[in-house]
Amino acid sequence: TLMATMESLIGLVNRIQKACTVLGDYGGGDNAFSSLWEALPSVAVVGGQSSGKSSVLESIVGRDFLPRGSGIVTRRPLVLQLHKTEDGSQEYAEFLHLPKRRFSDFVVNLTLIDLPGLTKVAVEGQPESIVQDIEMMVRAYVEKPNCIILAISPANQDIATSDAIKLAREVDPSGDRTFGVLTKLDLMDKGTNALDVLEGRSYRLQHPWVGIVNRSQADINKNVDMIVARRKEREYFATNPDYGHLSNKMGSEYLAKLLSKHLESAIRARIPSITSLINKTIDELESEMEHLGRPIAVDAGAQLYTILELCRAFDKVFKEHLDGGRPGGDR
Ligand code: GDP
Ligand code: MG
Ligand code: NA
Repeated sequence: TLMATMESLIGLVNRIQKACTVLGDYGGGDNAFSSLWEALPSVAVVGGQSSGKSSVLESIVGRDFLPRGSGIVTRRPLVLQLHKTEDGSQEYAEFLHLPKRRFSDFVVNLTLIDLPGLTKVAVEGQPESIVQDIEMMVRAYVEKPNCIILAISPANQDIATSDAIKLAREVDPSGDRTFGVLTKLDLMDKGTNALDVLEGRSYRLQHPWVGIVNRSQADINKNVDMIVARRKEREYFATNPDYGHLSNKMGSEYLAKLLSKHLESAIRARIPSITSLINKTIDELESEMEHLGRPIAVDAGAQLYTILELCRAFDKVFKEHLDGGRPGGDR
C-alpha cells in the first residue's frame, strides 16, 4: 500500500539522515551528504521561550521525552528520529546525540527538531549577542526548503508580537511549509477567545491554524501522563462553547495527522529530485571508495559503505513506488 511505502521511505530517510550526521563529523559541510540531507524532510518547532515548543513536539509524538517546563530552556537543537523496527512491530525514537537511548511506542514516523526559544533580551549572565545567535541558529534550520515549520505562538500573547510567525513569514513567504500552532488556549483571559486567529482573520496562513491545549506546569508537576493530557485536550475542545464547531480540527492528534499527510505529499513531490540526487551520490560514493582504495579512518569508511547501501535501498524503494504507482513507469 501507499502508506507502507511511505513508512519504509521515511524509515530510510531517517537512517540516511543519521548516517549523514555521523559522517558530517568527518567531512566538511560541502559534500554530497549535505545536499542529500537538505533534500530530506524534517519538522522543526519555532517560537519564543516557554511558548510550548517542547510540549507540542511531545504531544505530536504522544510520549514524554523532551526537557520541558517553565524554567527549562533547550540550549541547542535536539534532533529526534522516530523509527519503526525492521519487522514493523515496534517503534522507537532516538536523539542523534544520544544514539544508545531508545524511546518506544510512538505514533508517527518523523525527524523532529526541538529548537532553542527565540528571545528578545539577554538575561543576566548571558552575552549580549545571545538574541542574534539564537535567531541565526534557528534560521539556519528553518530556511532550508525541506524543513516543515511548526510556528508556535501562545494564545495569551498578541499574535502581532509572535516571533515564530515573523520568522516563518521571512523564510517561507508562500506559507507552503508553515503550520501555525496556537498553544495555551486555556490560559486566555476569561471572556476572550482565539477565534480571530484560529479562523484566519487576524493572520491568514496557507494551512489552517491548529489550536492546542498542552499540559500546564501544574500538570507536569503532578506527572499527568500523555494519555490523560490528550483526553483532557479533546474534552476541552468538545465542551468549550467558543470552539465546539472547530473541535474536529483542533488539538495535538489532529496536528499530528495534518503533519503526516503533509510530510507524505512533500516526499512524493520530491521523489524525482531525490532520486537523481541519490544516483549522483551513489556515483560520488563509488568513486570516493575507489579513490580511497581502503578507508582512511575505519569509522569513516564504514559510514561510507553504510550510506552507499542506504542510498541504494532508498533508490530501490523509490523505483518500486514509481513503478507501482504508474503502470509502465515514466522514469
Ligand atoms: P518551550 O520552552 O517553548 O519548549 O515550552 P515548554 O513546552 O517547556 O512549556 C513551557 C511552560 O508552559 C510549561 O510550564 C508548560 O507546562 C506550559 N505550557 C505549554 N503549553 C501550555 C498550554 O497549552 N497550556 C498551559 N496551561 N500551559 C502550557
Ligand atoms: Mg523547550
Ligand atoms: Na521551556
